[in-house]
Amino acid sequence: MSRKHRITILAGDGIGPEVMNGAIRILDAAEAKFGFTVERSEHLVGGAAIDATGHPLPPETLTACEQADAILFGSVGGPKWENLPPEIQPERGALLPLRKHFGLFANLRPGVCLPALTHASPVKQELIADGFDVLCVRELTGGIYFGSPKGRHEENGEPVALDTMIYKKSEIERIARVAFTAAMSRKKQLLSVDKSNVLASSVLWRETVIEISREFPEVQLSHMYVDNAAMQLIRRPGSFDVLVTENLFGDILSDEMAMISGSLGMLPSASLGRQGDNGLYFGMYEPSGGSAPDIAGQGIANPIAQVLSLAMLLRFSLGENAAAEAIENAVAKTIADGFRTGDIATGRDGETKVGTQAMVEAILARF
Ligand code: IPM
Ligand code: MG
Repeated sequence: MSRKHRITILAGDGIGPEVMNGAIRILDAAEAKFGFTVERSEHLVGGAAIDATGHPLPPETLTACEQADAILFGSVGGPKWENLPPEIQPERGALLPLRKHFGLFANLRPGVCLPALTHASPVKQELIADGFDVLCVRELTGGIYFGSPKGRHEENGEPVALDTMIYKKSEIERIARVAFTAAMSRKKQLLSVDKSNVLASSVLWRETVIEISREFPEVQLSHMYVDNAAMQLIRRPGSFDVLVTENLFGDILSDEMAMISGSLGMLPSASLGRQGDNGLYFGMYEPSGGSAPDIAGQGIANPIAQVLSLAMLLRFSLGENAAAEAIENAVAKTIADGFRTGDIATGRDGETKVGTQAMVEAILARF
């Protein structure tokens, strides 16, 4: 009997649907090749859902996600919905509530610059000549994104707005364990990033990470303030292995890592929540980049981040490791063979410039 899985697909807005089509074709190929089946249900989210139902996260979408083993997410948002009240905008009305509802506290963002792509990186060649391969483990359901009080009021006739950066020790413990575990399967170096010279939440963060480090004596733990980390990432990108940090710092540093890698269009992400007895996580998988409204509908978006997000889904939520690895290898081969969408093209010899579909074909041919 073949292995059966169930996922919910939320393509969303902008380039989301285009790159999702590519990922679905690769999923079809993976099923055929590795002998499993993935039942899929596709639902509206973000601006597309606002247009159809008036709400960025309709109840039927949430129910479909609850019934699945994992969510494959595209991207949400765009200029069309930017002037709506904040709470029903695609990001605050769909993406953040999905993260919170499913307790997706661990956001894994691998920043890798494939050897053939070092020229697409804005960082000096010699700095990444020995490779760039960093895993950012970002806390995703706490901190200033969700802390209360949050909001706006008036004091003496003047508008005042506030957000609260808050962490419970247990929230830091669980993300630290995910990061140490990830480090164990890599170079066993973990950098914890905080701002403990200023923020009380960071003092608790650092104390707690040090406590958890005793469970992982083989991992070499170091600490850095976030401003310094932003600088060191550019100065010596090759010296990082795994980085763990709170929600807002991770948001910022992961964009910096993406740029060092060459393009946001290359980087997948996994947001993991509860772990089952079989070791598999409920998770949501999405490209690190956004909906890119400027290039949507033109068939030129890089599908690789979405395809690699599918690979992460297969690995962490479905346990289909062989298929995940085969997809990652096919992508690496496609890049090595010179196929480039506009975001990673540099005009050098040996490059073939392609659109979304042709990139997917090239990956399929190497799968
Ligand atoms: C990300 C995005 C989101 C975030 C936005 C769209 C709310 O920037 O996933 O990094 O800030 O978390
Ligand atoms: Mg971000």
